Amino acid sequence: MKGRFIVIEGLEGAGKSSAVATVTAWLKARQQSYICVREPGGTPFAEALRELVKQDWQEHITAQAELLLMYAARVQLVDNVIKPALDRGDWVVGDRHDLSSRAYQGGGRELGDSQLQQLKQLTLGDFLPDLTLYLDIDPEVGLQRAVQRGDLDRIEKEALTFFQRTRARYLDIATRETGISVIDAGQDMTRVQADITRVLEQQWPG
Ligand SMILES: Nc1ncnc2c1ncn2[C@@H]1O[C@H](COP(=O)(O)OP(=O)(O)O)[C@@H](O)[C@H]1O
Ligand SMILES: [Mg+2]
Repeated sequence: MKGRFIVIEGLEGAGKSSAVATVTAWLKARQQSYICVREPGGTPFAEALRELVKQDWQEHITAQAELLLMYAARVQLVDNVIKPALDRGDWVVGDRHDLSSRAYQGGGRELGDSQLQQLKQLTLGDFLPDLTLYLDIDPEVGLQRAVQRGDLDRIEKEALTFFQRTRARYLDIATRETGISVIDAGQDMTRVQADITRVLEQQWPG
């Protein structure tokens, strides 16, 4: 079978890392070879960009500068890692992808979606995931989970309203576009896992 690209999306603490484990367990059970990647990051250069983006700086980081770094890291990962893996027939499980920029920089930082679409087209062309699982969570619940997990980075320290705008944009895009399944990530973990597996089975029966 040809490799497929599955993306996990959602706010901090939504349960993305946990969902990656659910998806890879499903792939293992079906004896599919796969790789896992995360954004920003996943190549040495892109991981260095990740560090830059997450650090606290003594100057204001503009929304545009942040956005361009995200896309620099993303195109590096897509061209050097994701596309070669898919060409080999491996599945790719991504912790965040393009939808994160549209939700965080578009919704959270209030950059226009049409500008983001242009940047996406310029860097990635028509490349798209085969399936995106958006884990929908109330930001207060997600941040509570993330705080318990450890230190918050520059973006995770944004105000609650930033994450509310980000969530609203995620939901708006998920309802308007195909290929994105919304999972209720406020449920207990076993239910979230069952919902994820159900979507995978629906998409790729057998
Ligand atoms: N459905 C859930 N209910 C309660 N806690 C959860 C749930 N999913 C994940 N968690 C916990 O919340 C924390 C954040 O989950 P994680 O998978 O790291 O989220 P993310 O990768 O989206 O930031 C972890 O401690 C995890 O065990
Ligand atoms: Mg995570």
